Amino acid sequence: MLPISITRAAELKKKPQDESKLGFGHYFTDHMFLMDYEEGRGWYNARIVPYADFALDPASMVLHYGQAIFEGSKCYRTPDGGLQLFRPEANLARMTRSAQRMCMPALDEETALEGLKELIRLEADWVPHSPGTSLYIRPTMISMDVHLGVHASKTYLFFIILSPVGSYYKDGLKPVGIYVEDQYVRAVRGGTGFTKCAGNYAASILAGDIAEKKGYSQVLWLDGVEQKYIEEVGSMNMMFAYGNRIVTPALNGSILPGITRDSILTLARQLGYETEETRLPIADIFADAKSGKLTEAFGTGTAAVISPVGKLCWENDEVIIGNGDIGPVSQKLYDTLTGIQYGRLPDENHWCMRL
Ligand code: COI
Repeated sequence: MLPISITRAAELKKKPQDESKLGFGHYFTDHMFLMDYEEGRGWYNARIVPYADFALDPASMVLHYGQAIFEGSKCYRTPDGGLQLFRPEANLARMTRSAQRMCMPALDEETALEGLKELIRLEADWVPHSPGTSLYIRPTMISMDVHLGVHASKTYLFFIILSPVGSYYKDGLKPVGIYVEDQYVRAVRGGTGFTKCAGNYAASILAGDIAEKKGYSQVLWLDGVEQKYIEEVGSMNMMFAYGNRIVTPALNGSILPGITRDSILTLARQLGYETEETRLPIADIFADAKSGKLTEAFGTGTAAVISPVGKLCWENDEVIIGNGDIGPVSQKLYDTLTGIQYGRLPDENHWCMRL
């Protein structure tokens, strides 16, 4: 593990006073963690420094060819005032898998985790106190070579920034409307769909913008070949409940292997729900929503936690799922997962890391 130097900010920012108005990703703490990489040398210069702008050469490769990957995880305040991270190693391991696909170097996960823990200890006062709030953690890796040839960069920057957040959607746990996208696609077999690369999100923005203008919060992506099978929502994986049976698209290489997805599937099994990971035709889900066989739909993700889906729009047709409100399965899973994350329920799977 690399040694980590700490340079403290001379002046601290004013923290947001009203935690009910945090929203998502608006505020950033006083410090950040950085680490550099150079081919032949490996990772070096691990440091915590005051949060500040980067100086980037306009020819920096990340600005042209987009070798950029990121992660999202959270730090929670427990009832005794302590702090805990939720499965941080799983996020860092996923970043290394994203890096491999993007021809970027494997992360020094050990130093990154220690840097994260040090950074959070320094920023402990930034972890909000109100129910539903947390400190969002955004690790990111970008290519830094100053060069216009299309090839792998030899130098990289890894950084972690922190942001106190409330709920991802402005209405919190209120069900969202989702627009099933049947023109654009997010990912194809052999592509980058399973990674958290910036380009996946860049390619999703146009469809998201169109869906928002139609009154929907998010886009539900279908497979990139036939546009028949459900993939994911971009900021969330999708799950569907038929009573006590929960089905979700199988990890097929083009959807993100969500850590919240994995946690929810594990908890669901432990709570006695039946789970199935399979290929889900949109036509079947839509028909089952119409007939009432499908009782609930919800998204899972770090930022959104669990987000009930109240209605789906597909091919100019709209269906309300269940009674359009949060259902008992989504509520139970939300309460169980957040109970563990906030330290109110026992952590039988050893997912939480106390600081
Ligand atoms: C997360 O859930 O942490 C994400 O990264 C989704 C989104 C905010 C990009």
